[in-house]
Amino acid sequence: IPSFESTYMFKEIMYQPKVVSRIYDLYSQPVQIRKMDLLCSKISKCRRILFLSCGTSYFATLAILSSFEHVLELNGLNCDVYSINASTRVDDIPRIRSSDVCIMVTQSGETADVLKIAKKAVAQGATVAAITNSLFSSATRIAGQMQTFYINAGVEVAVASTKAFSGQILTMMLLLSYLRGGIAEYQNTLSILPDFSVLLTNTLINSADIMQMYAAKISRHPSCLVVGRGKLSSVAYEGALKMKEVSYIHAEGIASGDLKHGTLALVHDDMPVIYLATPLPSKETCGTGSDSLHIGLSQITSRVENRDNILVIATEEFAKKMSSDMNVIIIPSIQSILKEQTKLSYFIEKTDCLQLLMNVVPLQLLSLFSACTRGWNVDKPRNLAKSVTVL
Ligand code: F6R
Repeated sequence: IPSFESTYMFKEIMYQPKVVSRIYDLYSQPVQIRKMDLLCSKISKCRRILFLSCGTSYFATLAILSSFEHVLELNGLNCDVYSINASTRVDDIPRIRSSDVCIMVTQSGETADVLKIAKKAVAQGATVAAITNSLFSSATRIAGQMQTFYINAGVEVAVASTKAFSGQILTMMLLLSYLRGGIAEYQNTLSILPDFSVLLTNTLINSADIMQMYAAKISRHPSCLVVGRGKLSSVAYEGALKMKEVSYIHAEGIASGDLKHGTLALVHDDMPVIYLATPLPSKETCGTGSDSLHIGLSQITSRVENRDNILVIATEEFAKKMSSDMNVIIIPSIQSILKEQTKLSYFIEKTDCLQLLMNVVPLQLLSLFSACTRGWNVDKPRNLAKSVTVL
């Protein structure tokens, strides 16, 4: 594959283990813990949490949304949580009240659609916070320093966002941990990050060859599907966006349960399908246990004769029960690794977040390799800008 190593996108994908370490360093500081504490006390009294974001940042919020719901329920809080795709509500701004906590999630801190809704929230007297990669951005000015949470991912140069997605999920996961169990749970979550960083490095290294091989296959096709079930659908949406953005292959990210409502008609021998099959510990609440993942996969495999166009991203346990005529990439099961580390308390929602993050990495590599195989400049995709400062 021509010259992918010199691209910013490749460097930024490979930098993600370092982002985990940088988050660990930053969020070990007392001032950050104080900020978490202040925001969580506001959340405890609010009626709604509204995440405001677009594109990749929106998918990061979708990845964590039901975990917030679950924690609010566990903590007995009378508060709901929603994720607003700011681009779709900018001309039709949702109702915001002073009892709401709005959290902008924006890498650049300059996305006009997000800022417009956030300004309305300020005017309504709501609490407005920001999770951003730019400390001197418009988002920070709106939220104020004490309500800005820095993702510390380092400057992201490539137009396609990769390492910021990881930083956003980790920062939201730390907020969630604080909300769930105060400083003790927060520190417990922080203490996993150094080991997680090593796992992420291994996943990046181990997935590179298989992804290059599958990229050679997929890049001959005009279109592909990325399928995930339950919370895994957020990763499918993100994987498909990356594919479209840099390789110009039309990709559709879809929840597996949604296929039968129409898109299943696109499944045939010549349609590459990437299927996410990493069971999540929260299977009771979101239906992403091993059994339902097998059902979702057979929905696809039963419609094709040539399974060589299918790629499954699976844990080892899941892969053992699969037939051998599909491409498979094995990624670690965070659940089993965390369970082995008995010093750590087991907190399902945090484990889900880390698993989702682990799943996204091979998809980022796949889109990069597909684009380079097709000869495109991955760092500057056509028609796109790094910060979308217009409405
Ligand atoms: C995709 C991508 C965009 C951004 C979106 C929001 O790779 O980069 O979808 O995620 O434009 O940008 P931020 O996070 O800066 O608000």
